[in-house]
Amino acid sequence: MPFSFHPPTGRPCDVCDELHTHDTTPPIIDTHNGKASSANNFPFHNWYNFVLGYSPEFPEYMIRRENLRQTDLVLDPFMGTGTTLVTCKQHQIPSEGIDANDFLVDAARAKLNWNLDTKALIHYRDEVLRQVEATFHSYTWGQDTQPAQLSLFAPQGSNGKQDYQLYVTPRRPEMLLQKYISDKPLARALMIDDAIKTIIPAGPIQELFNLALTSIIVPISNVRYGPGFGIVKPRDDVPVLDIFIEKLSRMIKDLRHISEAQRATPSTVKLGDARHLSKYFDHNSVSLMMTSPPYPGDHEYTKHTRLELTFRGYATTHNEFRIIKRRMIRASTTNIFKEDKDKETVINLESIRTITNLIQERLTEDGATSGFEKLYTKLIWEYFGGMHLALQECFAVLRPGGKIALLVSDSHAFKMVHVQTAAILQEIGLRIGYVRPEIILWQLKPSTSHKYWLRENILMLSKPE
Ligand SMILES: C[S@@+](CC[C@H](N)C(=O)[O-])C[C@H]1O[C@@H](n2cnc3c(N)ncnc32)[C@H](O)[C@@H]1O
Repeated sequence: MPFSFHPPTGRPCDVCDELHTHDTTPPIIDTHNGKASSANNFPFHNWYNFVLGYSPEFPEYMIRRENLRQTDLVLDPFMGTGTTLVTCKQHQIPSEGIDANDFLVDAARAKLNWNLDTKALIHYRDEVLRQVEATFHSYTWGQDTQPAQLSLFAPQGSNGKQDYQLYVTPRRPEMLLQKYISDKPLARALMIDDAIKTIIPAGPIQELFNLALTSIIVPISNVRYGPGFGIVKPRDDVPVLDIFIEKLSRMIKDLRHISEAQRATPSTVKLGDARHLSKYFDHNSVSLMMTSPPYPGDHEYTKHTRLELTFRGYATTHNEFRIIKRRMIRASTTNIFKEDKDKETVINLESIRTITNLIQERLTEDGATSGFEKLYTKLIWEYFGGMHLALQECFAVLRPGGKIALLVSDSHAFKMVHVQTAAILQEIGLRIGYVRPEIILWQLKPSTSHKYWLRENILMLSKPE
């Protein structure tokens, strides 16, 4: 196993070397032979591709391993766009989920509403297509356009058509900058949105169409997600309507291939903070929680849905983004607040102190002065403090004998100090009262910033009978 690579520059990692020597169990998923699949390859899951989401292979594996039945109840406390819930529904297992991000919750809800009449969907799709084609036709889009006059009383172009810029400029959400999405694709997307709102009554069908449109915002934009937030060469125009109709048709096709039993399997999604899970779900009710919580990798989890959140109006100001971020486990230095105090729950944990001391030592050694670097140790404390609160709440909602499976990566994000996320969460879990801990190597993940392959583990914990 190529664990033994040392980065050509920077620091070697003793923990990686130690794990390489003493823990040679192969991973469940052999990513390096290309066996791990992205959610993009799976029906329903690919209705919206969340960059930080995981492959449905994880819930599939857990369902098999735990021999789950239709009488069980599964919960995902960090649901994202509902990978766990969609997989459960395919297996006719009832499920519940919660997430802190408004857009992801609505996306998951739309992905899980299988009780739709496909004939009605086709009818609405064709209606929307007709109206949008007519609307597009009533605007000038080419170079021959008169220069835009930003007035409500602007004259029509010489060919009797309106200038699309007069349409898009007043409607562009303030935070949806031109460098993120050019005027023409945005105008076209907003015109599709107008047609959806005027043609389809509010309800599940409209939600499905909304998701089809929101899911193509990044593909038609100048932004690419993951692992960071990248801006590519601006594209003046894109065949937005074709992409939208293609997406919608694929969704309708998926809905044609489900059984009555799958359709009838309940799934419930909620917007909220997993650190208050027991406010939202019944105590002692859940047989298995399976989830991929944030991990201390310095990912800012709203960044990977920034365009969708602004396009849909969930967050149109920095303050509205902050409201969402406050609901989240602290996992990035751009998501830390002065008044945070989750760390109090784990303050006497020696394993965390060893990590923060080493980070501090390396910061001092390197003469690090940036504001973000100064937050590294606070972030580690707040992360594990927040996860302590969430695990405590999960404990209350699990039924006696119930289990939780957490898929988490180790991290080198802070001065190459190795954070063994699953091992520390196991320690926290045992303090809460969980029993029978087990750590299973799921996959080895290559990194862009160093040559070690980091471990992504499944941590299993049980609530006593
Ligand atoms: C790694 S992602 C999970 C991905 C998901 N399993 C999927 O495949 O779509 C972590 C998720 O945790 C959510 N999250 C972070 N803090 C949270 C909190 N305190 N309560 C609920 N959800 C939270 C984020 O919004 C993000 O969707």
